[in-house]
Amino acid sequence: MENNRFITNKELVTDDGDISLRPTTFDDYIGQDKVKANLKVYVAASRARGEALDHVLLYGPPGLGKTTLAHIIAAELGVEIKVTSGPGIERAANLASLLTNLQERDVLFLDEIHRLNHSIEEVLYPAMEDFVLDISTGKGAGATSLRLPLHKFTLIGATTRAGMLTGPLRDRFGVICRLEPYSTADLVRIIKRSARLLKITIDDDAATELSSRSRGTPRIANRLLKRVRDFAQVMGDGNITLPITVKALNDMEIDPLGLDYNDMKLLSALVQKFDGGPTGLDTLAAAINEDAGTIEDVIEPYLIQLGFIARTPRGRIALKAAFNHLGVKPSKKAVMQLSFLDTVGGNNE
Ligand code: ADE
Repeated sequence: MENNRFITNKELVTDDGDISLRPTTFDDYIGQDKVKANLKVYVAASRARGEALDHVLLYGPPGLGKTTLAHIIAAELGVEIKVTSGPGIERAANLASLLTNLQERDVLFLDEIHRLNHSIEEVLYPAMEDFVLDISTGKGAGATSLRLPLHKFTLIGATTRAGMLTGPLRDRFGVICRLEPYSTADLVRIIKRSARLLKITIDDDAATELSSRSRGTPRIANRLLKRVRDFAQVMGDGNITLPITVKALNDMEIDPLGLDYNDMKLLSALVQKFDGGPTGLDTLAAAINEDAGTIEDVIEPYLIQLGFIARTPRGRIALKAAFNHLGVKPSKKAVMQLSFLDTVGGNNE
């Protein structure tokens, strides 16, 4: 399960040390070039006008830097940031107290916003739209409601599941940014930057190897870098070389593409047990004893990026590259399905 994954995309307590690795300005932040360029414009414009930035929704797979970006936005706006999360807000009063404590133009970062309770979500609507807090007191005939003005603030919401947001909530974001998995080249730059900050030396070919096994995710790249450093320290002279990197990653059972046990479990179920699919998400989840949400948010994005699987209206299917990677010859039915997809374009959604 998720907690046992070495290359889990979840932020771990041990990642706290990574805070020093986190970039703090747009210029330090590597990758996500389009998102960054647009955000820079919006931040500069709202700063020049002396107004709060419009509310921002950041979405995409875990580990791509949504929290980091939120902190950068606040820093570049020159304002304070308060951090909370959907599951962390248990009662409307908790959200009300966060909102009333914000100063003019401050940022409220609401992580996992799709997990906000719907009755609490309703407090957000007038707060986001009109910067007011509607408070009702009493019940029945004696019920009264009170409107409290709030300072103009910026809500930055982050989610791995934009599709799970309700329409009214989504509509209240003026800026919506989708973060994409990082290219190998960007990950190499991130790894070299982190190595510099950690005072580690790493050869170019080792950084490339590490980046190609990091599933497009800086959080994973930084975590693997620290583990490979341990191997280099114990087995070598501390310098991270290619042979040490390969040995360390192989010993950690991370394959040349960065796939781990759970990815392989999903791929082999789809390829072997279900003959390439199409297989519904819940069926797949039951077959590999994994949570459907974890499959969608953590496992699938990278397999889709690699062109190993596709999401179709009829379910998940394994693509040619997945059969090749597993060294499995597709059945006649699978071959027909694959050639059909070639003609119609085996698209993801
Ligand atoms: N560390 C983690 N993510 C990063 C990024 N996008 N740029 C630079 N360093 C990082």
